[in-house]
Parts: sequence; structure tokens; C-alpha cells
Amino acid sequence: MSKKLLLKDAHIEGIRYFETYRKQGGYEAAEKALKMTPDEILEEVKASGLRGRGGAGFPTGMKWSFLAKPEGVPRHLVVNADESEPGTFKDRYLMEFLPHLLIEGMLISSYCLGSNTSYIYIRGEYSWIPDILEEAIEEAKAAGFLGKNILGTGFDLEIYVQRGGGAYICGEETALLESLEGKRGNPRLKPPFPAVKGLWERPTVVNNVESIAAIVPIMDITGAEYAKIGVGRSTGTKLISACGNINKPGVYEIDMTITVEEFIYSEEYCGGIPNGKKLKACIPGGSSVPIVPANLLLKTINGEPRYMNYESLADGGFATGTMMGSGGFIVLDEDQCIVEHTMTLARFYNHESCGQCTPCREGTGWMYKILKKIENGQGKMEDIDLLWDIQRKIEGNTICPLGDAAAWPVAAAIRHFRDEFEWHIKNPELSQTQNYGLANY
Ligand code: NAI
Ligand code: SF4
Repeated sequence: MSKKLLLKDAHIEGIRYFETYRKQGGYEAAEKALKMTPDEILEEVKASGLRGRGGAGFPTGMKWSFLAKPEGVPRHLVVNADESEPGTFKDRYLMEFLPHLLIEGMLISSYCLGSNTSYIYIRGEYSWIPDILEEAIEEAKAAGFLGKNILGTGFDLEIYVQRGGGAYICGEETALLESLEGKRGNPRLKPPFPAVKGLWERPTVVNNVESIAAIVPIMDITGAEYAKIGVGRSTGTKLISACGNINKPGVYEIDMTITVEEFIYSEEYCGGIPNGKKLKACIPGGSSVPIVPANLLLKTINGEPRYMNYESLADGGFATGTMMGSGGFIVLDEDQCIVEHTMTLARFYNHESCGQCTPCREGTGWMYKILKKIENGQGKMEDIDLLWDIQRKIEGNTICPLGDAAAWPVAAAIRHFRDEFEWHIKNPELSQTQNYGLANY
């Protein structure tokens, strides 16, 4: 059984309220941290090996150490709660059921970073959660864990919740900052990174909800102990939101030592595939990461079991591996049609492109139209190569990673499932009436 650090108390009734959270030892990590110096906390976070849980997996301690500290300029912590990656819903779970875990993590992190005003930027569609967070903030304030002179330390902290307008691109950290400043959420060129020039041009750390929540157990058990959980550079625990063709969709906390096979088939996690269907493919890290067929999902190209961690999932690079990403684990059974699936994603990215860069603005629309043609039985063989060319021209040529995120699913689908594209083109009448999965497995 995986060790639980974040969700260990999630089952306790009333845990979203301060009194219950406190009875379970809540805010003790903050009490401990506030007796330490910010540098000591930073050393703990570095020692933990925690990697950003939003998707990029960038080392959190390193990001914090990049924070510029010019004299007299305020700094900010911004929590990225704009969780919009298709298949990803683990931050929603944390905020809905354990809001004080996030607030406590923000208190420790803000103290470490020297932020007296911190923000939670939350996805617009999570319309019921800001009230939960604001209630938790008020409770923490009433108990002396937020506001002025927290626990007599002289440290002040206000936390504000900002609702997004429902644009996927506002989850990109610089677009989020633009939106938080009241402007259109267009990504900025990086560098400068937010750690140097962020919110209102002030040094800013932007971290995912789960990353900040993980600061609480790190302070609780120490960074060194946290680093002992997991394997290699995949330390600690990771939340996975599992969905698609599985018996038990939901949010699971894993310690990154289990195999992908165990995650899909064991009763503790996904509980297998409904109706005894075969596993066809999986997108293990949210829609932006490459899809992998079952044979490469369960084993690496060298025949080793594949594990649910950053290194193992990426083993083999984009050609045979994939990525941990945001932990949005989407399972596809033998009945699913990869062309239809890829078309749906292409439509999503085209709709969500902010339009600043030509390769993304034009390329995503072009890819969607070609995929729609193929899916509807109107494609030509040369369309497959055209699709391949377009995604190549998008990747690496845009301001923000949305371009790459739109290109990778198309590249991986063609690389691993070219036969399905060809089947649609060769069988136009079948293509319109049934999907490849049902017809061919
Ligand atoms: P990134 O790799 O560009 O940056 C990661 C973080 O490290 C950023 O906060 C960046 O500011 C910081 N950083 C990197 N180099 C730095 C340097 N030299 N100095 C200071 N700071 C530095 O990736 P990004 O754009 O933050 O995230 C992309 C990932 O987000 C994708 O891989 C995707 O998996 C994920 N994603 C997650 C979503 C969700 O709903 N959770 C939605 C969409 C994408
Ligand atoms: Fe906008 Fe797409 Fe360019 Fe990102 S890659 S800045 S979403 S046009």
C-alpha cells in the first residue's frame, strides 16, 4: 500500500473545517516552520527533492532559490489552481476536501519566500471552490494563522482568491500573471522568468496547488525523510487523477514505486478495465503528454516494467516513452478510436490557443480540420504526412508550451497508430459509421 502524506486525513468528516483539521495535527508544521529561518526552510525543500506537480516537474527548491530579492521590492507567491489540463482533477480534490492543507502550505511557503500578499488563481469552472477556500482563509485568520503578526513572529500574510474566466491558457504561468493583473491572459516571453519579473514586475514564485500542499508534510517529517519516499528523482508522493475506461475513476496518492500495470489493474487503484476489455493505450500525464500504446505503457523498450514515476514514464524519450505531466491518467480500452480521440484534443487546443503565435494559431486549426476530414472518411493518404509536417512546424516554435502540447498528441498518435489513420482513409464508408476500435479489435 502506498504511503499517504497529502490525503491521509481526506476521509475524515469535517476535515475541511479548521477545528477538525487542527485536531488532526493541522498547522503544527506551520508552527514548526515559523520558528525556523526562511533559509532553513528552503534547505528542507531542496533536500526533499520535490518536483513541481503542475506538469513540468521543475525542482521546487531550485525555483525558490531563483527568486530575486531586490531591496524594498515586494515578492509574491501565486498558487496556480487553474487546473484545466484534460484528465486532470487532483487539485480540485485537494482544494475541495483539504483547503487548510493548501492554506498551511501557503503560510509556510510565503514565510520562506518573504511574500506578505499571496494569491490563489483558480479555474473559473471550479465555481463552488472559491467559497470553500475563502471560508478556510477566514477560519485561519480568526485562529491567528493569517493576517498581522502571525503567531507573534512579526510575519504578516494576506491570501486572496482570484477566479479565472475559464481560459485554459491562463494556467500557463505568465498568462496567469497577466490575467491576475487584470489584462488579457496572453503568455509572456520567458526569460525573464516570474522568479525575476512576475506579478506587477515583482519577483514571484508560481507553484501548483499540490506542490504547495506538499510543503506541509515536508516540514512535518523533514525534507530528508520525504526524499526517502519514492525512487530516484521521483521523491515523495504524487496525486494521480485516473479516468477513462477503468472501473474506479478517482484521485489516488501513490509513492511512485508502483508499476503502471499495478496502478491500472489492482483493486487499490483503478480496479482494471470494465467488461474485461483489453487495454489499448494511455495518456498518463494529462492530454498534453504523448499517448502510448499498451505494449509500451506496461513495459519500456528494453522490456523492463514501467513505473509510475517521472523517469520511468519518460524512458525512451518521445519515441517510446511519455511523461508524468500533471498526473491526469487517461485510459483507453480496445473500443476507442485514436483518430477521433486525437481530433477531439486538436479541437480543444485550437479553441484554447490565444492566437499570439502563427504556428500555434494557424497550425492547431489546420490539424483539427485535417483530423476531422480523416475521421469523417474524407481523408487522403498524403494528409497523414501533412499532419506530421504541421506538428513538426509548431513544436518548439511558439511563445508558450501550448503549441508543443497541441503538437505532441498528434505526433504520438501518428507514430504509434498510423494503421488507424490509414484504415479511416481506406474505408471511408466504415469510417463514417463506426470507429476503428470496434471494427478492428
Ligand atoms: P517550464 O518547464 O517552462 O517551467 C517550469 C517552471 O520552472 C516554471 O515555473 C518556470 O518559471 C520555472 N523555471 C524554469 N526555468 C527557470 C529558470 N532558469 N529560472 C527561473 N525559473 C525557471 O514549464 P511550464 O510552462 O511551467 O509548464 C508546462 C507543463 O505544464 C506541461 O508539461 C504540462 O504538463 C503542464 N500543464 C498542466 C496543466 C494543469 O492543468 N495542471 C495545464 C496545462 C499544462
Ligand atoms: Fe498563444 Fe499558442 Fe503562442 Fe501559447 S503557443 S502564446 S497559446 S499562440
